[in-house]
Amino acid sequence: MSYFLPLLSAVALFAAAPHAYGADKPPVNAGPYVPSPTSVVADMLTLAEVGPQDFVIDLGSGDGRIVLTAAKVFGARGFGVDINEKLVKEANESAKVQGIADRASFTIQDLFKTDIRKATVLTMYLLPNTVNMLKDKLLTELSPGTRILSHDYPLAGWIPEKYVQMDLEDKVIISGVTTTLIYLYVVPAKAEGAWSAKLPASLSRDAVRLTLKQQITRVSGAARIGGREVLLEEGKLRGERLSFKLALNGRMWDFTGTVHGGAIEGTVSDVGGGTKFAWSAAAAR
Ligand SMILES: C[S@@+](CC[C@H](N)C(=O)[O-])C[C@H]1O[C@@H](n2cnc3c(N)ncnc32)[C@H](O)[C@@H]1O
Repeated sequence: MSYFLPLLSAVALFAAAPHAYGADKPPVNAGPYVPSPTSVVADMLTLAEVGPQDFVIDLGSGDGRIVLTAAKVFGARGFGVDINEKLVKEANESAKVQGIADRASFTIQDLFKTDIRKATVLTMYLLPNTVNMLKDKLLTELSPGTRILSHDYPLAGWIPEKYVQMDLEDKVIISGVTTTLIYLYVVPAKAEGAWSAKLPASLSRDAVRLTLKQQITRVSGAARIGGREVLLEEGKLRGERLSFKLALNGRMWDFTGTVHGGAIEGTVSDVGGGTKFAWSAAAAR
């Protein structure tokens, strides 16, 4: 219940404040300022295995703690955006004081209009409906393999790669309960469509037509082999990594591959392990 009180005051304050968006409509308020407890920040960044090679973007960055911690403790770079000018100023000042202003910066910007393509890790602690309003933007703009961390609220219809639940006393003042959730998602490559696949000769001497359907990270479909349709089982995508099983020649086969630039390259072995054979596919016209 207490979560909604700060939200209403934040909306009222924002509506009254002058802003830097010119004649544009004021941005949708995606959530009140409620900082993630520092332990949750550390858990989020640890769950995503953030490191020096990462570029972290926090949508609605508040006092900047997520990007500041990513830079200071995990050696990453990144930026945060927020509509609250005071918080953006505070976050930039903290970056200066901590000597990491070259790696962590903050801008007054509407998160819905922010260019997020540079992110390798994207974080958010926003209201549940906002998280879902962002789903298409995340899927369209982020590269396959980008990790998304959402504090407390899931992306509907998207199976998280990992999910952590814990009890934190700090959360009682925020949401009235101790429950804290962290969801980790990995942006999948696009594999939907028809593919012309080359399998090892022991499985098929003819080209095989794969027809894939994709529901975010879940993959279903069929392989057309010698006039026969075989349904894919347990198909999934983790970033560019595709995996599925196919029953061929009286055995079950494990297929894995990397989906990249209209091609799939990978290996296939029988489910019990055994020798790995190369297979590949090209997007069919
Ligand atoms: C719950 S706080 C999260 C702060 C920080 N990410 C954290 O986890 O500590 C949500 C933040 O989103 C900001 N916000 C709300 N709507 C926004 C919008 N349309 N564009 C940018 N920031 C927004 C708020 O000002 C607030 O600071």
